[in-house]
Parts: sequence; C-alpha cells; structure tokens
Amino acid sequence: MPLTNKHLLTVCFITVSALMATTSPALAGKISRTGSSAKVSPRGQMLALSCSGCHGPDGKSAGIIPSIYGKSTEYLETALREFKSGVRASTVMGRHAKGYSDEDIHLIAEYFGALGKKTR
Ligand code: HEC
Repeated sequence: MPLTNKHLLTVCFITVSALMATTSPALAGKISRTGSSAKVSPRGQMLALSCSGCHGPDGKSAGIIPSIYGKSTEYLETALREFKSGVRASTVMGRHAKGYSDEDIHLIAEYFGALGKKTR
C-alpha cells in the first residue's frame, strides 16, 4: 500500500512538472503581451472578445466581414459611435453597437487600437 502511494506521488510530480514546463512559456508570452500595455483596460479586452466571433481573433477577419485589426483607436471609436447612432448604415453593427455605453466603446476602440500598433 505505501509503495503504491509513493508511486502515485511520483507520477503526479512528473505530470505536474511536465505540464508546467509546457504551459509556462505560453503563459509568459500572454502575460508579457498584456502586461506591456498598461494603458489597455482588462474590461476593454473582455468586451473586445465579443467582436472576435465575426471579425476574427484579434480582429483579423478571414471572411466577408471587414478586419478591424490595425485600425486606429480614433477610427474605431468614431465608427462604433456612428453605428450606434445610426449615422453609419449597417446590417448588424448598428444593433451590436447599441449594446455598449460610450465608455465601453472607448475601451474597445482603445484595445484594438493598441493591439494593431504593438505588432505592426
Ligand atoms: C454579428 C457579427 C458582428 C459582430 C459580433 C461585430 N461586428 Fe463589426 N461588423 C460586422 C459587419 C457585418 C460589418 C460591416 C457593416 C455592417 O453591415 O454592419 C462590421 C463592421 C465593423 C466596423 C467598420 C469597419 C470599417 O472598415 O470601417 C467596425 C469598426 C466594427 N465592425 C467593429 C466591431 C467591434 C469593435 C465589435 C465588437 C464590439 C464588432 N464589430 C462586432 C459584423 C460584426
């Protein structure tokens, strides 16, 4: 019995070490990526996730929907406000933009604006 437990512990230790070895570089990359952008709020980053379904990961669209990656904070904020108010014609963006406060729009625009600048 004690032998089995010891063996299990060893297996556990090896598994955890292996997991840590494989996940930490990826984790470190993620942390440094978000950590370097002190200006971007986590709330903006969270809200921006709702755009990925249509505009692609990081706003890089592979399909018919325009990419929003690489566009400036100012451009994105203006576009979203215009969609929200109806000044800019749209199929879905007007409906989508109406769900966000002006502050949310600012944070989302800031997130994508900073994202484009960082990796350009
Ligand atoms: C349901 C799919 C969908 C979602 C979700 C979505 N979009 Fe869009 N977006 C579109 C489509 C389609 C267009 C083209 C305009 C239209 O017909 O509504 C567009 C256009 C845009 C444009 C104009 C692009 C340009 O080149 O001028 C911006 C900016 C934009 N979206 C930002 C966002 C942001 C930011 C979010 C997340 C808060 C978002 N979109 C979420 C579908 C979507």
